[in-house]
Amino acid sequence: MEAREAAAEADGAVAEPDVLTDFQRWFFTMSRLKSFNWKFVENDLQRNKSSEIISEILKQTCLHPLCRSFPPSVRYRRLFLSELIRLEAAGCDPLDELYDALGEVVGEAEGSECYKSYFLPCGGAVSLLEKVALISEGTTGLVTWEAALYLAEWALDHREFFSDRTVLELGSGVGLTGVAICRSCRPRRFVFSDCHAAVLQALRDNVRLNGLDGRAAPAVSVRRLDWTTATEDELREVGADVVIAADVVYDPDVAHSLVELLRLVLTRSSPPPAVLVCCAVRNPQTYGGFRRQLESRGIQPEVLDGAVSHVFPYDRLSHMELIRLTAADGLQV
Ligand SMILES: C[S@@+](CC[C@H](N)C(=O)[O-])C[C@H]1O[C@@H](n2cnc3c(N)ncnc32)[C@H](O)[C@@H]1O
Repeated sequence: MEAREAAAEADGAVAEPDVLTDFQRWFFTMSRLKSFNWKFVENDLQRNKSSEIISEILKQTCLHPLCRSFPPSVRYRRLFLSELIRLEAAGCDPLDELYDALGEVVGEAEGSECYKSYFLPCGGAVSLLEKVALISEGTTGLVTWEAALYLAEWALDHREFFSDRTVLELGSGVGLTGVAICRSCRPRRFVFSDCHAAVLQALRDNVRLNGLDGRAAPAVSVRRLDWTTATEDELREVGADVVIAADVVYDPDVAHSLVELLRLVLTRSSPPPAVLVCCAVRNPQTYGGFRRQLESRGIQPEVLDGAVSHVFPYDRLSHMELIRLTAADGLQV
């Protein structure tokens, strides 16, 4: 063990390689700056009177090749570098590469889009082009939501559930869950879907960006599937063994059409597909209304409440509910 790591462990702090990995994971997903272990950096600077720790962090973040290809937003990189400069100024001599990195970012124009990269346990990362704002072009579908990350984590813990299956995803948004499943769970076929034109375009671009062009397994497609108009024929054409959806319960006005579609999914094929819906329960009334509508249409939700491995960095304060849906006896047509 290096002296620096030993000293850090003696302080009760996390060992340096873990801190660097966390810095990288948080940086590339543009996690809130207050999530970072700045205290560790501060202590290291004071203890060693050397900017080596800053240089290591830079290598894993702004100077990493992934940042050249898929950079987080300009504003985020500027704030991140400013924080490093603030710490460094109090602890040791100026590090040229830190100021060069800031100089580069300051010269860049701020756009409405950014890249986020989510590291996978199997190696590599899912990189997605997302909007900076949570709602843009009249949709919530142009950013990755926490339920998508939670559902992907559940999938990574239950790969066999998707292996060699045809999977249909409803309301895919920018594609995080589906791309993670395609990269890690060996589905036979994966059908991404959404209804919004800009979301479908972003989804197609992100699927291509992640090398899922359908030439190698799994077979992948992106299709327009609107819950308000989807037909039995469209569902039969997909022939899904598994249907998934993340963060699709947020608008009481569309809950009705979603429930009717889920009823169609569960009753019109034999055997019915396995159906999983993952919800961040922001508004208990909206979510409760959805659950009641499901039950009134003969659909039973079973909560899958086992712990999932924490793979992606995100705020775990929201109440997440993953439910598996089945049709009540006698509902099958
Ligand atoms: C909150 S976003 C969730 C996106 C993604 N699943 C995630 O969790 O990051 C909701 C998604 O549902 C889609 N959506 C809303 N109404 C829909 C409908 N009637 N038919 C199909 N998709 C719809 C939106 O376009 C959007 O992409």
